[in-house]
Amino acid sequence: MDIARKQIGTFTSIGTNVRLGKDVKIWNFVYIGNDTKIGDKVILGSLSHIDYDVRVGSGTRIEGLAYVAPKCRIGKDAFIGPSATLTNDPYPKSARLEGVRVGDYAIIGARAVVKAGIRVGRRSVVAMGAVVTRDVPANTVVAGTPARFIMKRSEYQEKRQAWEGKNKYPTHRQ
Ligand SMILES: CC(C)(COP(=O)(O)OP(=O)(O)OC[C@H]1O[C@@H](n2cnc3c(N)ncnc32)[C@H](O)[C@@H]1OP(=O)(O)O)[C@@H](O)C(=O)NCCC(=O)NCCS
Repeated sequence: MDIARKQIGTFTSIGTNVRLGKDVKIWNFVYIGNDTKIGDKVILGSLSHIDYDVRVGSGTRIEGLAYVAPKCRIGKDAFIGPSATLTNDPYPKSARLEGVRVGDYAIIGARAVVKAGIRVGRRSVVAMGAVVTRDVPANTVVAGTPARFIMKRSEYQEKRQAWEGKNKYPTHRQ
């Protein structure tokens, strides 16, 4: 593995046949399973667990304590919040594992849990603490247990801009 232009923290375990893109940042105590492919400029927070045969697209950020089960597919420029859990087995310990698919630019809130095999559409948002049991169409925001539609992504964007506009001390966007 070429470790040039990568920041890899301490106590990080990287399996075999793992591909790490350019400019990835991996914080401390991270686990990456075998055959997983991580795109360019991905950030993996401390204590995140990215299991085997996972794909993470370029520019995606996965926050601390997130769990990404084997066979999950995460698109580019997505956000996986702290302690979010993407599962792969509705009836453990079954002999069939099916990962979650998260579309490009999607956002999974803190502590959300997504059922095995679910597709979270492109540019969708899953609210913090949601339990997602059905596919989430593109450009929608869902919340609750079980997760239901609460607004469109366009409304979320407007709210985000209004929120950022009130910030006297903008933070650096990674
Ligand atoms: C989805 C989200 C963006 C909505 O925020 P908002 O625009 O302030 O939402 P509102 O307060 O206008 O909520 C609209 C409705 O959805 C409900 N709702 C909002 N967030 C919810 C959640 N996480 N779970 C359940 N219901 C929720 C509200 O109670 C409200 O319901 P009501 O109309 O019956 O009162 C926000 O709750 C969220 O989850 N953000 C992600 C935060 C996160 O995980 N950050 C990680 C980085 S630290």
